[in-house]
Amino acid sequence: MLAGYLTLLLFITLVHPTVQDTNADLDQWISKQDIISFQTIHQNVNPHGTKRGFFAASLSTYHPNYFYTWTRDAALVARVLTGLDETSDDTLMDYVQFQIDTQSTETQCGCLGEPKFNTDGSSYQGTWGRPQNDGPAERAVAFMLIAKRWMDNGYQETAWIYHHLVPSLVKDLDYVVKVWYQDSFDLWEEVLGTHFYTLMIMRRALLDSVDFFNAYGKRPVDQYRLTAHLIAKRLEGFWSVEHGYIMATQGVRNGVQKLSGLDVSTLLAANLVASRKDGFFSPGSDKTLATVAALENSFKSLYPINHQQGQNLGTCIGRYPEDIYDGYDTSVGNPWFLATAAFTELYYLAIEEWKRVGVEVNDINQLFFQNIMQIEHGYYGPQSNVLNHLIKDTQLAADRFLKTIKYHQANNGSMSEQYDRYIGFMAGARDLTWSHAAFISASRAKSERFIQ
Ligand code: NOJ
Ligand code: NOJ
Repeated sequence: MLAGYLTLLLFITLVHPTVQDTNADLDQWISKQDIISFQTIHQNVNPHGTKRGFFAASLSTYHPNYFYTWTRDAALVARVLTGLDETSDDTLMDYVQFQIDTQSTETQCGCLGEPKFNTDGSSYQGTWGRPQNDGPAERAVAFMLIAKRWMDNGYQETAWIYHHLVPSLVKDLDYVVKVWYQDSFDLWEEVLGTHFYTLMIMRRALLDSVDFFNAYGKRPVDQYRLTAHLIAKRLEGFWSVEHGYIMATQGVRNGVQKLSGLDVSTLLAANLVASRKDGFFSPGSDKTLATVAALENSFKSLYPINHQQGQNLGTCIGRYPEDIYDGYDTSVGNPWFLATAAFTELYYLAIEEWKRVGVEVNDINQLFFQNIMQIEHGYYGPQSNVLNHLIKDTQLAADRFLKTIKYHQANNGSMSEQYDRYIGFMAGARDLTWSHAAFISASRAKSERFIQ
């Protein structure tokens, strides 16, 4: 067994010699991958035989069957598509219409937190973790971005926006106001409790709605503003002084036990709220950076593949250390493409923030900076030499995660959900739509055209 493993390692080392990518190599790959990912997303949108506006999580129908639409995946993908000029308005319109229909579809949950729907738009009836209350909040964010894109571009169908999109948006927002403090399953569909990620995306949806209705709608927004404020108070409590990082969940009622409390979802959340630019658990904030360091250090020692990665590649990142979901079944968890891409995106978003407000190196975030460069505690303002130097090194570190993706994806630009923790080969659902959207989001962050 051991001998077999060692032979395998030797084989992999031989066929996968450590590549020394130059910056030009990387840029060239990114331009190519941007196109492939955009096309792959479109292959997964409304595939043959599905209802219009159906966004498949993956085209994989067997081992695993991901040929459903998850409210979460679809909304996160729609959000990225909305930020791209190449996306057609028809695709977004179909997405919106499909989602509106699901709101009045009969579901097991009997609520807007129903997680997934079939290819014909009917709801999935099997046993599943319900409700998943991040979904309506993610959808609300996507709907507002779509509406804004249309109104800012003088799109003709404003009546449709006011009579269809907005009422559905209001349903989601009112649902968030009603349920935010109740137990819900997390974004990984495994744990019933109160989740940092879910509350963060709810807060963003509500704050965005205040701006949205002030600008376009003349609706009363006091409830939304107040709820966002209450959620923020609740979120503060997820910071653990004892651990020195953000804990993913509180009040676990049921599901997978996770001792560390570490979870990349806290960083996905930071990326998703960056556009608010309010410093609240934002990518460049000290508590988020502390969590980045804790997660990276944990995966670095946990995954065997990270012990053989050359200096040139970034750490392979998974969902959370205790993960045992292998993409089909339960055995051992692996690194995920979307989690690895999220690190690149977070670093670039942090850089954007530091350029605006400077950076304070302190006891909370020092571990993060130790992984980047030697730097003394203190405040470094925008334009200062130290900050400029720090930014350069952070960019290099950010790009190393992209190199990791390049190295482990298939040669044809395909990206599944996961890649193996021992040997790096792809695992789990093939061409996960969310993996490709996460890549585009990271690549856009690198070129400072941030997805909102
Ligand atoms: C499918 C879920 O989507 C995934 O997150 C979970 O880990 C597995 N089921 C195993 O429970
Ligand atoms: C499993 C993941 O845990 C969940 O977040 C996702 O929504 C589904 N797979 C579908 O991609």
